[in-house]
Amino acid sequence: MEQRIRVGTPSYSYDVVVGGALRTLPSYIDSSDAFALVDAQVARLHGGTLPVCPTMMLEGAEAAKHLGSLPSIYRWLLAQGAHRKSTLLAIGGGAVCDVAGFVAATYMRGIRLGLAPTTLLAQVDAAVGGKNGLNLDGYKNIVGTFNQPSFVLCDPAMLRTLPLVELRSGLAEMVKCAIIADAHMFERMEAQADEVGRGNINVLLPLIADAVRIKSRIVSADEREAGLRRVLNLGHTWGHALEAVTGLPHGLCVSVGVDFAARLSVRRGLLSPNAHQRIRQLLTAMGLPVSAQADEARALEALRNDKKRHGGAVDFVLICDIGQVVVESIDYTDIQTFVLS
Ligand SMILES: NC(=O)c1ccc[n+]([C@@H]2O[C@H](COP(=O)([O-])OP(=O)(O)OC[C@H]3O[C@@H](n4cnc5c(N)ncnc54)[C@H](O)[C@@H]3O)[C@@H](O)[C@H]2O)c1
Repeated sequence: MEQRIRVGTPSYSYDVVVGGALRTLPSYIDSSDAFALVDAQVARLHGGTLPVCPTMMLEGAEAAKHLGSLPSIYRWLLAQGAHRKSTLLAIGGGAVCDVAGFVAATYMRGIRLGLAPTTLLAQVDAAVGGKNGLNLDGYKNIVGTFNQPSFVLCDPAMLRTLPLVELRSGLAEMVKCAIIADAHMFERMEAQADEVGRGNINVLLPLIADAVRIKSRIVSADEREAGLRRVLNLGHTWGHALEAVTGLPHGLCVSVGVDFAARLSVRRGLLSPNAHQRIRQLLTAMGLPVSAQADEARALEALRNDKKRHGGAVDFVLICDIGQVVVESIDYTDIQTFVLS
């Protein structure tokens, strides 16, 4: 069943439609004035359901998410006659949504943007909140804008073709959301962990809506990451450090990072060992990792270079209870001791 979740930021309000079908996309746009950036893999798998409008394929998803891709996209839009009243559609995972978000924010100083995220991670995270980021010279998401879309359409049928590792990446972000703000969602994930881990669409759908609702509440209150929005980094501080040194997929590193944050929270007397155990069990039951083979010294070095570091301290999202988190600035040397002890 379709659910509409309102994102109400100071700059723009729009609906995230969870459970809508991609074939209804034409009803959201004027097809004679829409242009689509489409993940080439999605086009191969779901070509029949894509809207009929001028389309540019992006091959390689993350590989196309860098500044160097932009000139050819701008030139293509110009050649197609895209103008200030046109709509740019993104149909693909978070990478394509990020590229389209940036292009729509900058082409002719901004055109309308519509997002049809096709991965679980993009549906619950990347497409919600109006941030985009492009990579440059090995720096991830170092260039970007805040640019809210006009609508987001999440079609669960897209998820049927997702490789398991991509499904798990999205699940890690969903567990993160539940820990941040919704103990009830966490309990429902616990009760259905098997089916969730297998990607059962019927079981996933209400949980996707819950995750979108949580993110939408947070970004509506803090569009530009001045404060509250930082809680969404739960699991990402250590996760990014691991990603940098292991090259493991982002979502799997987030899963390990969530468990790391939980252990650190127990160590600092914030979280009960029992709650940590539940977090660890849920991640494991869904097939997500809670540890990674990594050179800890190199991961600590990556943490030291994290852009969220201020002076000698690193901002960590810690867990007080399932459904409740806090951001704390922790001395880098304390983290070092914790990791190496
Ligand atoms: N802007 C934000 O707020 C935000 C938040 C989180 C993540 N991100 C960004 O999102 C990106 C990660 O997103 P992602 O995990 O969706 O990765 P992705 O876009 O790279 O897609 C992952 C893989 O899945 C394939 N794919 C996409 N849809 C598919 C489908 N329905 N069936 C089969 N395969 C499909 C893609 O071709 C790709 O190979 C990163 O670049 C990250 O920085 C942005």
